[in-house]
Order: sequence, then C-alpha cells, then structure tokens
Amino acid sequence: MQALVIYDTKFGNTEKVAQAIGEALAPQGQVAVVNVADARPEQLAGVDLLVVGSPTWGSRPTPAISKWLKGLPAKGLKGVRVAGFDTRGDMSQVTSRFVTVLVGFLGFAADPISARLEKKGGTVAIGPEGFVVVDREGPLKEGELERAVEWAKRIAGESGVPEGAR
Ligand SMILES: Cc1cc2nc3c(=O)[nH]c(=O)nc-3n(C[C@H](O)[C@H](O)[C@H](O)COP(=O)(O)O)c2cc1C
Repeated sequence: MQALVIYDTKFGNTEKVAQAIGEALAPQGQVAVVNVADARPEQLAGVDLLVVGSPTWGSRPTPAISKWLKGLPAKGLKGVRVAGFDTRGDMSQVTSRFVTVLVGFLGFAADPISARLEKKGGTVAIGPEGFVVVDREGPLKEGELERAVEWAKRIAGESGVPEGAR
C-alpha cells in the first residue's frame, strides 16, 4: 500500500489528526503526510490510498483544500481508495437550538471532501469522519486522536488485500 495523507490546518489540530492517521497506516506500507501548502501533483504517483483532511470552516473545507481537490485531474483518482475527514467544533457545547439545526443542515467539511474525491474517480474506502476540537483553536477533545487511529486502522483493514500482500 502507498498512502498519501493531505491536510490543512490553522491551529495545528488537523495536523495532529493527520499525523495520527499516518502513523496508524504506516504498518501497511509507505505513507506520506503532507500539508496542502507543500503538496505537489507528482506526490500522487503510485498512491493507492488518498486521505484528505481539513478544518471545517463555515461547514466547508478550507479554501486551500477545496482548491487542491478542484485541481485534481478529472477521473484522476481512478483505482485509488479515498477517505475524507475533518476537525470541527464541539456541538455538544452549543446551547442554541437554531445553531444546532443550522449546523445539522449544513454539515461539516468531511462530507464534501469525500464526495469530491469520489467525483474525481476515487473509491470511497470508509465513510467521512469528523474529529472534535474543544474550542475554535483546540485542543482536540479527549479521545479524538485515539478515534482517528481506529478510523485509519479500519481503512487499512478494509483494503481487501491479504495481510502478506500489502
Ligand atoms: C473561520 C472559521 C470558521 C469555522 N467554521 C466552523 C463551522 O462551520 N463548523 C464547525 O464545527 N467549526 C468551525 N470552526 C472551528 C474549526 O473547525 C476549528 O478551528 C478547526 O477544527 C481547528 O483545526 P486546526 O487546528 O487544524 O486549524 C471554524 C473556525 C474558523 C477559524
């Protein structure tokens, strides 16, 4: 398996999740964890698992992640397993019913990331997932890094490739 984890981050939380996902995938093969600001098209060569993560900004991925996804060649992810994740605010702390309903309607960044990866020809390896930060700048809520590791291990486990052949 050759995996690429692309992420954006403003306050460092999404980077931490991306690194944890990268470490969880590492036993399965070669893994690169790359900030979207440093991403180059040639890094996609030979990749068979692409994971993309973004902070949720206004229910969407950051502009840098959206631009990167948009720049992928049409059907460029054919034969690539893909997964999207985000970090997001702690909705259990929101007391306004209006905001809760609005956010429930508008959602979070992981869904559009996953949809865009699929649109570019990728095969969704695992459903989009979000990891919660306590305040806008973090830290991550307790247990979220562990949950990210479990999520990543599920991607690896669902590859359908026998252990010895990975
Ligand atoms: C401009 C801006 C918009 C945001 N919009 C949302 C939002 O719509 N929904 C949400 O759950 N969190 C929102 N947040 C909180 C971010 O998701 C949080 O800052 C991010 O997960 C932290 O990731 P980072 O440390 O990698 O930057 C927003 C934060 C910023 C700075």
